[in-house]
Amino acid sequence: MKFFADTADVAEIRELAETGLLDGVTTNPTLVAKAGRNFLESVREIARVVSGPVSAEVVAADYDEMMREAEVLRRIADNIAIKVPLTTAGLKACKALTSDGTMVNVTLCFSAAQALLAAKAGATFISPFVGRHDDVGFDGMALIADIRLIYDNYDFATQILVASVRHPMHVVEAARIGADVMTAPPKIIHQLIKHPLTDNGVAAFLKDWEGTGQTIV
Ligand code: G3P
Repeated sequence: MKFFADTADVAEIRELAETGLLDGVTTNPTLVAKAGRNFLESVREIARVVSGPVSAEVVAADYDEMMREAEVLRRIADNIAIKVPLTTAGLKACKALTSDGTMVNVTLCFSAAQALLAAKAGATFISPFVGRHDDVGFDGMALIADIRLIYDNYDFATQILVASVRHPMHVVEAARIGADVMTAPPKIIHQLIKHPLTDNGVAAFLKDWEGTGQTIV
């Protein structure tokens, strides 16, 4: 399973990239606003730090303007994936961009029917938002399982990118279902590492080791 960081904060991305565990980055207009920096400059910098896909989202609602924005974004670097919303214009842009060899991430997916359309439009990634789905009383993970089944039935190459991840169990459940990618805020990726029994075990081993008076040389 690939791990993407869901942030536009370059410092956070650098820190995660140094672990060797980071396969890509996803951004969205909200995350760009939160980072408080120039969008194009940030994307340029992120695309240099991470060699995997970096999703940069168009903000236009109509097809022509989406394509114009996509052209600006894809010129930034070869590893840019254009993020388009799951609308008629977004699917049309997805088809046109992927036919040209550009990676496309279709975002704001909340149903299996939408995911099927994105795959038919040739999407590189489909982004179902599990946390936001849970928020309104639906089962986000049931949606991931449905999409996995449908994509496998037809051998669609579109990768399931689980988004709106809110806690480590979302990651574990998505991996159990066989999602291709998950994107999460860096805080959650760090939480995946932590376990109190690991911390206690490390502290106990260090204490006992100190008692031996030895060093490893
Ligand atoms: O990048 C899209 C997605 O991950 C947003 O997550 O937490 O705003 O629902 P969230």
